[in-house]
Amino acid sequence: MQILVTGGLGYIGSHTVVELLNNGFEVVIVDDLSNSEKFILNNIEEITGKKPAFYPFDLKRKELLSQVFEAHNILGCVNFAAFKAVGESQEKPLEYYENNLFSLINVLQEFKARNISNFIFSSSCTVYGQADKMPIDENAPLKTPESVYAKTKQMSEEILKDFALANRKKISLLRYFNPIGAHPSGKIGELPIGVPNNLVPYVTQTAAGIREKLKIWGNDYPTPDGTPIRDYIYVVDLAKAHVAALKKLISEKSETAIDIYNLGTGKGSSVLEVVRAFETATGVKIPYEICDRRAGDITMAYANADKAEKELGWKSETTLEEALKTTWKWQKYIK
Ligand code: UD1
Repeated sequence: MQILVTGGLGYIGSHTVVELLNNGFEVVIVDDLSNSEKFILNNIEEITGKKPAFYPFDLKRKELLSQVFEAHNILGCVNFAAFKAVGESQEKPLEYYENNLFSLINVLQEFKARNISNFIFSSSCTVYGQADKMPIDENAPLKTPESVYAKTKQMSEEILKDFALANRKKISLLRYFNPIGAHPSGKIGELPIGVPNNLVPYVTQTAAGIREKLKIWGNDYPTPDGTPIRDYIYVVDLAKAHVAALKKLISEKSETAIDIYNLGTGKGSSVLEVVRAFETATGVKIPYEICDRRAGDITMAYANADKAEKELGWKSETTLEEALKTTWKWQKYIK
């Protein structure tokens, strides 16, 4: 039961590795450390008491990837390795297309050559753009993507569907809403490089005094308090969904499967609600100012995650406040 986890030292990847190990899977990590740190590997071992195999290289290096498949009896893959900064993707489209698509294709080539099935892909609710109705279910139409990053997610989904149909493979596309929080141990979490783009890392860095104040990008949206609404899903809950999706693929009787699941809490929270929840959870005040809207931001996105509950037996269990408490513990650990 060896599972390849690409990008397994990254934010969602590392939490998923922990849950896979806790569920009796052996894990083989390939991660080029372009957006992760080696100490995460040691901390995964501290949390689980198990040591995953680790290969530090870029998945575009086909010959090295082939050697990993030679050395291990791989049963499936959970694929996280990708660049993910929306702004940067607009400035460096070729790098994003090359990295996110070629690395995916290289793993799929190995799957095809070695007759392996069971591929889980890390997708995003960004594929829906501003959906016409809430909550968003898996049948909502995919909108023209706003960024190169979002385009790579849509393209990857198409590549995977074609691959599954042509080669009779089992794949699962997991569309995450907004992942937040850290492991309760405080030993693994998100490591933003430079100034964070995402809300929760910016909030925790403000609480830690690294940032002076939070800039709230607009309070004139058509929402109850004027700030945009998102579905913030706890990263450990999210990681558990990967294990459930993988188990389903492995036990799937039919040769070909294309599973698509929204992974969210089903509940929307505004930016101001997140700030208040953080203050309540930690007792630390967050200074903020209201600024102009950020280009490309949507008003509202929250999930209908009923399909994941029905078919995977999975649902989000952790409250926003509990999740934010873990993020604060992690922030103090890395400070
Ligand atoms: C962003 C990405 C999205 C990606 C997702 C992953 C953009 C435009 N979109 O989505 O493609 O899939 O992260 O987590 O970057 N906010 C502030 N101040 C801040 C940071 C954020 O007010 O300093 C607000 C934003 O306006 C937004 C909300 O907080 O309303 C959440 O922002 P963020 O964490 O960046 O997530 P998304 O915009 O949903």
